[in-house]
Amino acid sequence: MILGLETSCDETAAALVTADGEVRANVVASQAELHARYGGVVPEVASRRHLELVAPVVERALADAGAGLADVDAVAVTRGPGLIGALLVGLSAAKTLAWSRRLPLVPVDHLHGHVASLFLEPGSVEPPFLCLLATGGHTLLLDVQDRAGYRVVGTTLDDAAGEAFDKGARLLGLGYPGGAAIDRLARAGDPEAFSLPVARVPGFDFSFSGLKTALVYAVRALEAGELERRRADLAASYQRAIVRALVGRTRAAAEALGAQKVAVVGGVASNSELRESLADAELAPLALCTDNAAMIASAARFATAIPFPDYLALDAYASAA
Ligand code: KG4
Ligand code: ZN
Repeated sequence: MILGLETSCDETAAALVTADGEVRANVVASQAELHARYGGVVPEVASRRHLELVAPVVERALADAGAGLADVDAVAVTRGPGLIGALLVGLSAAKTLAWSRRLPLVPVDHLHGHVASLFLEPGSVEPPFLCLLATGGHTLLLDVQDRAGYRVVGTTLDDAAGEAFDKGARLLGLGYPGGAAIDRLARAGDPEAFSLPVARVPGFDFSFSGLKTALVYAVRALEAGELERRRADLAASYQRAIVRALVGRTRAAAEALGAQKVAVVGGVASNSELRESLADAELAPLALCTDNAAMIASAARFATAIPFPDYLALDAYASAA
């Protein structure tokens, strides 16, 4: 059994996954409420909260699995990218747990973790496939030929799709985190009410910063009362623009690369309109879209383990390797 830990942003998560990809426990303690009053994640606050939560979350995962540390064969942990102070809490906890039981440690890249959310049972997805990875920090099109890695085919030139959702939510006064709030409000709105253009950039890349500016102007053009009445229309139109851009680029890349299969992972993969628009694709299960540790333990099954005690000096990294 692999014990996975994830602390790259504002979720403190621990999971137990078997070598076959069966999830025995998947515990996620979200700090979203703690950061909501600041309108976004405050790194120092996140680190301190991870420190408080990491041990109880691991204990809870073990209890859920009906297991003890003696049943753990390896410890997997997110090494980056993410908030460095937050990552270091998970990495230190993982080193401590592994070292105390003379276990190997498997450092995992967070983005590889998102892709590996597709390799869990039931319904593990077999490569090759083209993968749209859309989170708060990244928007990538990945050519996945095997379970151990991928080749980047496209990326965002500015904001990530999740970041666009979060910034849009903020402009609409929906608070943090914004993606799910826009998703909910959009259901009551008309997606064709406002024309919000998304820049088309060459190749298979994305650009979302212009869309955010378009929303700023659309919001400014409305009086307070009018804005209140049109909020759902704005949310629906904004979501439609992001989803169209994601779906358009993904389908174009799939066709150009001759991909037989398309998969979608990451926090934005929970978006209901995106899921409906790519209903023929392999969609990561809802519980595994936003940050969790089951996907990290899953990725560890296909990554290189560092034997005891060679990992003690291992460092985290903040930006994509
Ligand atoms: O993968 P994730 O949990 O963390 C990162 O690695 O960044 O993704 C978080 C992002 C946030 O930007 C959040 O607003 C977005 O995923 N998100 C959504 C939805 N649920 C979460 N975006 C659109 N619709 C949703 N339902
Ligand atoms: Zn993530």
